[in-house]
Amino acid sequence: MGPLGAFISLAALASAASVPHSNVKRQVSQLRDKYDFVIVGGGTSGLTVADRITAALPSKSVLVIEYGDVQFAPGVFDPPTNWITPAENSPPTWSFVSLPNPDMGNLTAFVQAGQVVGGSSAVNGMFFDRGSRFDYDSWAEVGGKEFAKSKIQWDWRGIFPYFKKSVTFTKPSPAIAQRYGYTWDLSAYGGSTPIYSTFASFQWADHPVLWQAWKEIGISPAKECAGGDKEGICWVPASQHPITGKRSHAGLGHYADVLPRANYDLLVKHQVVRVVYRKGPKSGPPLVEARSLVDGHLFNVTVKGEVIISAGALHTPTVLQRSGIGPASFLNSAGIPVVLDLPGVGSNLQDHSGPPVTWNYSKPYDFFPVPSTMVSNATFKAEAIAAFSQTPAAGPYTLAGGNSAIYVSLPHVTSSYRTIVDKIRRMAHDGSATSYLPPDVRANPAIAAGYKDQLLALANLLANPSSPSLETPWATSEAPGTAWSFLLHPLSRGTVRLDLADPLAQPILDYRAGSNPVDMDIHRAQVRYLRRLLDTPTMRQRGATEIGPGAAVAADDAALAAYVKQQSFLSFMHPCCTAAMMPRAKGGVVGPDLRVHGAEGLRVVDMSVMPLVPATHLSATAYAVGEKDWKKR
Ligand SMILES: Cc1cc2nc3c(=O)[nH]c(=O)nc-3n(C[C@H](O)[C@H](O)[C@H](O)COP(=O)(O)OP(=O)(O)OC[C@H]3O[C@@H](n4cnc5c(N)ncnc54)[C@H](O)[C@@H]3O)c2cc1C
Ligand SMILES: *[C@@H]1O[C@H](CO)[C@@H](O)[C@H](O)[C@H]1NC(C)=O
Ligand SMILES: *[C@@H]1O[C@H](CO)[C@@H](O)[C@H](O)[C@H]1NC(C)=O
Ligand SMILES: *[C@@H]1O[C@H](CO)[C@@H](O)[C@H](O)[C@H]1NC(C)=O
Ligand SMILES: *[C@@H]1O[C@H](CO)[C@@H](O)[C@H](O)[C@H]1NC(C)=O
Repeated sequence: MGPLGAFISLAALASAASVPHSNVKRQVSQLRDKYDFVIVGGGTSGLTVADRITAALPSKSVLVIEYGDVQFAPGVFDPPTNWITPAENSPPTWSFVSLPNPDMGNLTAFVQAGQVVGGSSAVNGMFFDRGSRFDYDSWAEVGGKEFAKSKIQWDWRGIFPYFKKSVTFTKPSPAIAQRYGYTWDLSAYGGSTPIYSTFASFQWADHPVLWQAWKEIGISPAKECAGGDKEGICWVPASQHPITGKRSHAGLGHYADVLPRANYDLLVKHQVVRVVYRKGPKSGPPLVEARSLVDGHLFNVTVKGEVIISAGALHTPTVLQRSGIGPASFLNSAGIPVVLDLPGVGSNLQDHSGPPVTWNYSKPYDFFPVPSTMVSNATFKAEAIAAFSQTPAAGPYTLAGGNSAIYVSLPHVTSSYRTIVDKIRRMAHDGSATSYLPPDVRANPAIAAGYKDQLLALANLLANPSSPSLETPWATSEAPGTAWSFLLHPLSRGTVRLDLADPLAQPILDYRAGSNPVDMDIHRAQVRYLRRLLDTPTMRQRGATEIGPGAAVAADDAALAAYVKQQSFLSFMHPCCTAAMMPRAKGGVVGPDLRVHGAEGLRVVDMSVMPLVPATHLSATAYAVGEKDWKKR
């Protein structure tokens, strides 16, 4: 990137941070009579689509309706926070607490989503990885014969070009690359879209300790993990601008940085209530009914072309259900007239989850600086804030939560992976797996058939020694040392349903974590694997002492299950899959063109459409889904 590019982006950042963009609409009187396209939700995928359509079709008008506002959203890790501070339930972030999970000791999932122009990309942890090629191939697998005929293919070959297009990667300077050992392969990149990624010029002093320990348990460093092959130790770039060190997100790269465009309208502080088909779902495109969050004014927007729902995995099902599109059983109980019976709407909720392994050190931990220095040393913190506002930005804040992780396949986690895989295939084939589905849809033959196909695809993923099923991202720390285990390919399925007491309020999330008992088998295997970290020469030399789960607990299946049920995070903020791309006869909601089955002029484009959660944090995939083949759609 040249200095001019950096300058333009700096200007855009400044304008987005201080004053609402002049093109932003705030009330219905500022809108046109009709729009060719209406996009519901100005988030990661939605703004990607809006940008591409407005650029390619200058004669077509596009309206994005967004719940939040143009708001500078400090990163979870930006000053003045102490490196990591959970955001409250207020703009720019929604916070949800799920129903208790009976199979997980009644733990609840705490999950967040962005309510701001830019959506979750404007508030997330900036960890910018992509899934493994096998994850996307599994989407094609569950699409089956029916989707194999489509001219739009969602396997790795089909989606990889859009990952490349979606981001501008800037390599670190040779000095920084050498200091930390950063590696990359430019063949995974090559785009020029103003969504940026790069590697920080900072690491905590003890980062090499864990890197060495992971190598000692047998994990090989991968050169580049964004090119589809990510089993190993990975460096993961952050979604940030290489010069400013500030967050790069969809509200900048797909809105503020690209304006003005005469055909691109953005209405903020409005909630889409529902889409309305006046004469049934084949009479589309539907009207879009929206309400002002300022004065409650309710109105319809007329659409000539199509409506694209991009409200995110937790809200897209609410818009559909309020529109009478969803499981008929649920809609009937809610008193909502059924427009289209699609039992899969909000019925295939997945997320990453898992417990940590924790330890302390008996030898003095004499590294400086470590993350806790931000809290304990005011001088260091003041220097960190000053470094972050320099150009180029530097220091700990540019690192966000960390930029490395291990990704390990089940065959490398446990030698008894075949037992687990066989168990999954058996429960898929004999139909017993159906009993683990959400009660209000498990009697539906299409949902049961789709779950069977998902489980068979998951068994293949879990049996593949090159397909990661465990992630442990790491930032270092001493008190206590923590290695989280992410269950990357969960088998349990949850639901997102309207709150019948107030359908316009936040939905009710029932994660149903652990409802398929095989998830516990995998959690246990992962914890046992991660404990081996403490047995490495590097960790022994530091006097690493396991705190959780502890040797006695880990030795016993029941005790270890109890530990998992006490200590797990049930959401690593990756909710997805609530309007899955699968055939209608398999409980799917959208086809490969992302059109809603049985509805005219209506698509879903966001993290809801994934049938299976991939082995990655989701934002890069959200951009790629927004980019992919929309001209052919
Ligand atoms: C706290 C947090 C940390 C995360 N950390 C990471 C990370 O480090 N790395 C990573 O890759 N991923 C991370 N993720 C996940 C990732 O950011 C999201 O999965 C992804 O951005 C979702 O994209 P989306 O387009 O599906 O939805 P979003 O980007 O969430 O967009 C949905 C938009 O729709 C709007 N909306 C909702 N309902 C309505 C309505 N009725 N009317 C109008 N507008 C509506 C919302 O306000 C929002 O702007 C994190 C997420 C969160 C919340
Ligand atoms: C979970 O909550 C239910 C309902 O309150 C209760 O019956 C059950 O005993 C609880 N389980 C645990 C493990 O606490
Ligand atoms: C939107 O249009 C539908 C169908 O004509 C109608 O039932 C509904 O009341 C309208 N909403 C508003 C706010 O006018
Ligand atoms: C606190 O941070 C400053 C600035 O980096 C450093 O010079 C100082 O030695 C630190 N103090 C302690 C007690 O570590
Ligand atoms: C480390 O943890 C163990 C186990 O909980 C405890 O016995 C020990 O006192 C701790 N040591 C330090 C240095 O904190």
